[in-house]
Amino acid sequence: MKVLNFGSLNIDYVYSVDHIVTKGETQSSFSRNVFSGGKGLNQSIALARADVAVYQAGMIGQDGLFLLDILKKEGVNVDFVQICDGASGHAIIQNSLDGENSILLYGGANQQMTKEYVDYVLSHFEIGDFLILQNEINELAYMIQKAHERGMVICLNPSPMNDIILQLPLELIDWWFFNEVEASQILNETTDVNKLVAGLKKKFPLAKVVLTLGEQGSVYIDQTQERRQKARAVKAVDTTAAGDTFTGYFLSAIFHQCTIEQALQQASDASAITVTRHGAAPSIPTMKELLTFEK
Ligand code: RIB
Repeated sequence: MKVLNFGSLNIDYVYSVDHIVTKGETQSSFSRNVFSGGKGLNQSIALARADVAVYQAGMIGQDGLFLLDILKKEGVNVDFVQICDGASGHAIIQNSLDGENSILLYGGANQQMTKEYVDYVLSHFEIGDFLILQNEINELAYMIQKAHERGMVICLNPSPMNDIILQLPLELIDWWFFNEVEASQILNETTDVNKLVAGLKKKFPLAKVVLTLGEQGSVYIDQTQERRQKARAVKAVDTTAAGDTFTGYFLSAIFHQCTIEQALQQASDASAITVTRHGAAPSIPTMKELLTFEK
């Protein structure tokens, strides 16, 4: 079984601020750091650090070549990443003193996927291989349709949630990774956890669904079982990439034949570490760090 992550590669410009800037306000930041990011890249790094061999596909501009070096250093296979004209995707991230963040995306190369490129990449994968997607690249509907025709197992983290997600062939998704805001948006529901769980179970009867709830932990739902996992109490300084870490570490546990309980525990602990550190990809723990944390 092979694992393909077809996703975004961003340059993250991270500004430390007192509070998230409000409408009409001008605020000076304390510092600016430039990190590798993008939900695609972050999830590939989480998978690689959790001992999964992963192929990354996606597009960058010349300014994003350093992202390839970072992925390669982590052991991610980047043979399918293409370099195109124009700028790479980037994110302007505000990180406030109380650990909150806000993210403004510029799609750039992440929005340059073509059907030909999708066909080329998918032609290297077959029945039983996994395809991992997020919502920061174009041509998602085509990818899902074509991957399904090839018999691939499709995982979707619908982040950031918007109307594009609602137009996708949602019934073809095998694994969902929601946070509670995304779940409440797709269900048109309040954020009451029990209602979300019941709503997801009803809306996606054939899928396996993972719902992350921040400090309240996480839940796994399918038609035969529901498992809840508490989150470890930690002092969060930056929540960026917590969800990406969760997805990567959860799937790694599944690929390594762990139980759902073990997968939730591993993913939850890994993202607890991530929020105690600054940045997106750089904050994702290695498996060695995770094992030390769990002792
Ligand atoms: O999930 C965090 C990521 O969201 C950041 O790295 C940023 O690039 C955006 O894609």
